[in-house]
Amino acid sequence: MKVKRVLRRLGISALALLGLLLVVGVYQFLSFGRAAASVYDVEPLQIVATNDSAALERGRHLAESIGGCLGCHGPDLGGALVEDIGPIGLMHAPNITTGGAGADYSDGELARAIRHGIDSDGRSLLYMPTPEYNWWPDDDLIAVVSFVRSMPPVQSVNDAATVRPLGKLLNQFGVMQLLSAQTVEHDAAPEAVPAPEPTARYGAFIARGCIGCHGEQMSGGRIPGAPSSLAIPANLTAHDSGLGSWTKADFVTTLQTGVRPDGRRLDPFMPIGSTQAMNEIEMDALWAYLRSVEPLEFGNR
Ligand code: HEC
Ligand code: HEC
Repeated sequence: MKVKRVLRRLGISALALLGLLLVVGVYQFLSFGRAAASVYDVEPLQIVATNDSAALERGRHLAESIGGCLGCHGPDLGGALVEDIGPIGLMHAPNITTGGAGADYSDGELARAIRHGIDSDGRSLLYMPTPEYNWWPDDDLIAVVSFVRSMPPVQSVNDAATVRPLGKLLNQFGVMQLLSAQTVEHDAAPEAVPAPEPTARYGAFIARGCIGCHGEQMSGGRIPGAPSSLAIPANLTAHDSGLGSWTKADFVTTLQTGVRPDGRRLDPFMPIGSTQAMNEIEMDALWAYLRSVEPLEFGNR
C-alpha cells in the first residue's frame, strides 16, 4: 500500500520533471536558432590580399601550422569532413577557395571571418576555432588572407556543417561553444603580441590552439559533453601524470611524428598535421610555455 503510494508520488513528480525539462529544452533550442540567425555589427576589415612572396610564404606557414586551416579545410582548401561528432553535429569544413564559399567573400570579409568568426552575411560561423587565432597581428592576418586567395579554385560541392539537437543544448548551457562569433569580444583592443620568439610569452599565444582539447590549464581529461568515442586529450603539464618525465626532444619528436616516446601512435584526433608544420621557434615557445604552467594532475582540464 505504502509502496504504491510512494511510487505514485514519484511517478507524478517524474512526469512533472520531464515536462519541465521539455519546456527548458524547447526554449533553449529556439534560442540557439535565434543566436545563430543574429547579424553582428562588425564591419569587414580594411585588409587587401597581396602577392608579395614573403607574405604568401608566411600565410602558408600559418595556415598549415598554428592556424590549422589546411588540417580542417583540406590540403587544397577544397573542403573536408573534420569530424562527425554524433548527436552534437557534423563538423564539415567548406570549400573556401573561389570555386566554393570563397567566392562570396571580399578580402575584408575573409579577414573578418578569421578574426571574428562571422560569415559574409554577418552571422556567426559554426565550429571555427576563432580564439585560437584572433590574436594574430594584422600582418599575419593579411598573410593568411593572401595565401587563401592564392589557392587555385577547387570545384566541389560545399557540404554544410550542422549542429544537431544535443549540440544546440550543450551550446546554450555553456558546456560547448559552437557559435564562433560568441567566443570572442568583438570590440576588444588589439593584444600586445610579441614578434615570434622562443619564449613562454609567445608560447602562451600559440598554446591557445591546444586549449579547446587539452583544457585551459593544459592538464587534459575528457572534453565536456564529448561522446565517449572521442579520444581523451593528455596532460601537457610537467606533472607526473603528464609530461613530467619528457625532455624537450621527446616533445618535439612526438609533435613531428605523432608517435610517443614509448612507441605508441597518438589517436588521429590529435592534429599532428598542424604541429608537424610548426617551426623551431614555435616548438621552443610552446615547450617553454608548458614548462611555465602549474603542474596539475591529469583531468583538471
Ligand atoms: C577545427 C576546424 C577548422 C579550422 C582549424 C579552421 N576552420 Fe574554417 N571552418 C570550419 C568549419 C566547420 C566551417 C563551417 C562553418 C559554418 O558552416 O558555419 C568553417 C568555415 C570557414 C569559412 C566560411 C565559409 C563559408 O561557407 O561561409 C572561412 C572563410 C574559413 N572557415 C576560413 C578558415 C581559415 C582561413 C582558417 C585558418 C586560419 C580556418 N578556417 C580554420 C572549420 C575549421
Ligand atoms: C582537436 C583536439 C586536440 C588539439 C587541438 C590538440 N591536441 Fe594534443 N592531443 C589530443 C588527444 C586526444 C591526445 C591523446 C591521444 C592519444 O592518447 O592517443 C593528445 C595528445 C598530445 C600529446 C601526447 C601526450 C602524451 O602524454 O601522450 C602531446 C605532446 C600533445 N597532444 C600536444 C599538443 C599541443 C602542443 C597542442 C597545441 C599546439 C595540441 N596537442 C592540440 C587532442 C588535441
